[in-house]
Amino acid sequence: MLFAVVIIFVLIIFCILDIITPHKYPIGPKRFPLVGSYLEIRKLRQKLGFYHLVWDHLSQQFGQVFSVKLGRIEAVVVTGYDAVRQVLCKDDFDGRPDGFFFRFRAFYKRLGIVFVDGPMWTEQRKFCMQHLRKMGFGSISMEKLINEEVNNLLLDLIRRSDNGNKPIDVNGLFDVSVLNGLWAMLAGQRFGLYDSKLAKLMELTHVSFRMLDMSGGILNQMPFIRFLAPKCSGYRDIKHILHEFYTFLKASVEDHKHRVNDEEDLICAFLKEIEKNKESTKSFSEEQLLVLLLDLFLAGSETTSSTLSFVILHLLRNQSVQDKVHAELDAAVGDREVLLSDKNNLTYLEAVLMEVQRHSNVAPIAIAHRSIRKTSLQEYKIPNDTLILASIWSVHMDKQHWGDPENFRPERFLNETGQIINDSWFIPFGIGRRRCLGEVLAKTNVFMFVAKILQNFELKVPEGVQLPDIHQEGVTVSPSPFSALFIPRRSFPNSDKRF
Ligand code: HEM
Ligand SMILES: *[C@@H]1O[C@H](CO)[C@@H](O)[C@H](O)[C@H]1NC(C)=O
Ligand SMILES: *[C@@H]1O[C@H](CO)[C@@H](O)[C@H](O)[C@H]1NC(C)=O
Ligand SMILES: *[C@@H]1O[C@H](CO)[C@@H](O)[C@H](O)[C@H]1NC(C)=O
Ligand SMILES: *[C@@H]1O[C@H](CO)[C@@H](O)[C@H](O)[C@H]1NC(C)=O
Ligand SMILES: *[C@@H]1O[C@H](CO)[C@@H](O)[C@H](O)[C@H]1NC(C)=O
Repeated sequence: MLFAVVIIFVLIIFCILDIITPHKYPIGPKRFPLVGSYLEIRKLRQKLGFYHLVWDHLSQQFGQVFSVKLGRIEAVVVTGYDAVRQVLCKDDFDGRPDGFFFRFRAFYKRLGIVFVDGPMWTEQRKFCMQHLRKMGFGSISMEKLINEEVNNLLLDLIRRSDNGNKPIDVNGLFDVSVLNGLWAMLAGQRFGLYDSKLAKLMELTHVSFRMLDMSGGILNQMPFIRFLAPKCSGYRDIKHILHEFYTFLKASVEDHKHRVNDEEDLICAFLKEIEKNKESTKSFSEEQLLVLLLDLFLAGSETTSSTLSFVILHLLRNQSVQDKVHAELDAAVGDREVLLSDKNNLTYLEAVLMEVQRHSNVAPIAIAHRSIRKTSLQEYKIPNDTLILASIWSVHMDKQHWGDPENFRPERFLNETGQIINDSWFIPFGIGRRRCLGEVLAKTNVFMFVAKILQNFELKVPEGVQLPDIHQEGVTVSPSPFSALFIPRRSFPNSDKRF
């Protein structure tokens, strides 16, 4: 009897502790023991379709900074320019979440680059930046590498489009090329457009993206659920996908060990670093390499190829914008091959690409941050170890700043003399120490693909086709499936160079 009373008493205390919040902590939706606000958030998510819209909805009720308890996880959602900037720029928020899911994907350790923090993150980020710079991030050799992918795709488009009569699926159109460029940098090796190994890798990337979300999904919020519902919670599928991924990556790493060690790719550089640091406590290990590769893959492929699909979608939607891009390309480049250095002369195109990034918000929420000590944000006190979700979408869609954020209007990024306006509210890659590591690569990719496709093709909506309004969400936002006609604008000089 006494025992039962004690148990009940302890349970009650636990439930109360589970739902109370500290002093001066942001308010938020009602929380319940064990599940927090999970059920309400899930209901809103089903109604609104996207997490960033859920956060927008709740911010109207609770203010620009509010708290939610996601299962077991204490989180603060941050919207609006001032608060988002503060979060992304303050060292106190430089951490990344830890948790079951993040370790599960990394051999039950904290490895990789995206979901680590502290000295290990500093070391790995430095290694990646140095290596990518050496590889020619933003320079001639990167341009050459990307150019090759673009040319292959152009030839493929010519072949498949049947002189502009046959509609081509735009979803997934860029996946292989983007992944291939990335893989070339990481592993010094490229696949053919129709290579089965690459197709497999791509499918894995896709599936994993649809199944997860930025806070690590339900597996992170309620890790115990994997025992109750291994299938529904996605636990089984994710386990399978990770296994496939690592099998692929391990084979590549093994392959590199047997190769002559004079190559310049990231895997080689990393293996050398492991050798060099054998006796030290540094964070270079083979497992780390595998997770790093996985991170770069997932961060770099889908974001870039979704952005490209959105560009095509917007150019199909608005013929007058496409006409202007064509005119600018004809005037500044003409029939010769487009170069990366033409970017400065193609300011309208640049404005179009910026507007696509602002309007489409491929990454609507920054990758989750975490407070690494007790700190403050505006008038609020934020405890140590709190998950922070910063809404980039809310900054890009602010009515007061942009006036008509829901309209697609590239001119908003151009001043009277047609020069690009730098707007500090435009932050598609985040800001601060945790900002995107692949910004230069992504921008170069997007520019080269779009400029060369538009130099060579006129894009048209196939007859009877309705362009999609609703976008799909996973970790990133991408357009729902649609197709386009690619009508050649000029004879393509080297169409017999490859294939
Ligand atoms: C259009 C394409 C891309 C967009 C919109 C994008 C956007 C972002 C955003 C919003 C973040 C989070 C910033 C934060 O948490 O504060 C991020 C982080 C990151 N991105 Fe990208 N990204 C793109 C392409 C790439 C590419 C091509 C790579 C690969 C080389 C890449 C690698 C990374 C990595 C490694 C991080 C984590 C950095 C860290 O935690 O220190 N991204 N990106
Ligand atoms: C392109 O820009 C460079 C300087 O950035 C300029 O010298 C050149 O004349 C421009 N070319 C065209 C066609 O506008
Ligand atoms: C913050 O929390 C983390 C994880 O619980 C802990 O390792 C760290 O020591 C804490 N930092 C401070 C300053 O309390
Ligand atoms: C197309 O874009 C132009 C320029 O931004 C804008 O004025 C026009 O309203 C847009 N048209 C449609 C149908 O969205
Ligand atoms: C437009 O922007 C350019 C470069 O940012 C600047 O030099 C120029 O003065 C601006 N023109 C006007 C009319 O604001
Ligand atoms: C805008 O930003 C770019 C790159 O960050 C820089 O090169 C340029 O000088 C800036 N222009 C103005 C007017 O601030």
